[in-house]
Amino acid sequence: MLEVREREREREREMAGNLSVSEAKSVGKSIQEMSMDGDEPPLQFVVKEHTFGSKQHDSSSESILIPIIDVSLLLSSEQELLKLRSALASSGCFQAVGHGMSSSFLDKVREVAKQFFALPVEEKEKYGRAVNESEGYGNDRIVSGKQVLDWCYRLTLKVFPANNRRLALWPENPVDFRETLEEFSFKTKAMMDQLLRSMARSLKVEENSFLKQFGDSAMMMARFNFYPRCSRPDMVLGVKPHTDRSGITVLLQDTQVEGLQVLIDDAWINVPTIPESLVVNLGDQMQIMSNGIFKSPMHRVLTNEKKLRMSVAMFNEPDPDAEIEPVEALIDETRPKMYRNVKNYGVINYQCYQEGKVALETVRVGT
Ligand code: OGA
Ligand code: NI
Repeated sequence: MLEVREREREREREMAGNLSVSEAKSVGKSIQEMSMDGDEPPLQFVVKEHTFGSKQHDSSSESILIPIIDVSLLLSSEQELLKLRSALASSGCFQAVGHGMSSSFLDKVREVAKQFFALPVEEKEKYGRAVNESEGYGNDRIVSGKQVLDWCYRLTLKVFPANNRRLALWPENPVDFRETLEEFSFKTKAMMDQLLRSMARSLKVEENSFLKQFGDSAMMMARFNFYPRCSRPDMVLGVKPHTDRSGITVLLQDTQVEGLQVLIDDAWINVPTIPESLVVNLGDQMQIMSNGIFKSPMHRVLTNEKKLRMSVAMFNEPDPDAEIEPVEALIDETRPKMYRNVKNYGVINYQCYQEGKVALETVRVGT
């Protein structure tokens, strides 16, 4: 059964009866239909905290910029390595250039993503996500009745280990979707592995300290995100604030439409679009392995009243069966071991999400 349909029925049930006419107008419509009709978003999408947007653009945050790092210099330039370390120890996020992927190739990835999303609903639903699964196409997974819904569609696919791919969920249309994702996955994985070695060198520890913890069966998920236009960007988010559960995330942004924001020093900072760059975000598991020296940043996505936005996120995670731990050489008296050894952090993270807990806090030493 398709989550999308299930969602519509649930929405109808919940909204029947006690809503005003203008609110009830949208009952039963999909996000895309509401987007096209310019409807007022139903209450389930409205962010309740009165702090919505209030941390944006105060004058003290104007000077905070997301660093740009040239990956091709990391092997030769001590200065670039220092920049990498300070970026990851402060914001946990940077824009990577010099990564070796051509602009035309990145455009190709964006193009197949856009073509898939432009297909008729029935065609996309052939790849629909089953209710209790993470792979496939649909809206965000509902884990609690009180959850505020994201204004977005996603296509999530496991790309590594390659023998665990569920090809039945890989679109056959556009015809070059599969081979393009395959190539993007290999190139991204190579870049991530290089970055993981550089991250270790930047901390003066053995260069495989992080990489080897991902294991030979490291897992990579690809997620294509589509954020339709929304009539109330002041009240509705594309994605709620979260940290990634991954080890490391690489994000290909839309060439024109901004939306991603990272929380730095209590301010939401825009991550600008730079067509040839790839955004690198650390996930919780690298915060654990670096013994808390590197940060897994809180981030969110805004909606846009005028334009559809898309992005492609690649999440690289240690093999769920392997135990990860803070690198020994990063533990000392001034910085005692901060996190326990953990296995299968994805499951811990998901349970915490359901219970409204911060996953990283539950694996801290002493909790
Ligand atoms: C994510 C995410 C950001 C974006 O998928 O985890 O944070 O810009 N996406 O789509
Ligand atoms: Ni994210």
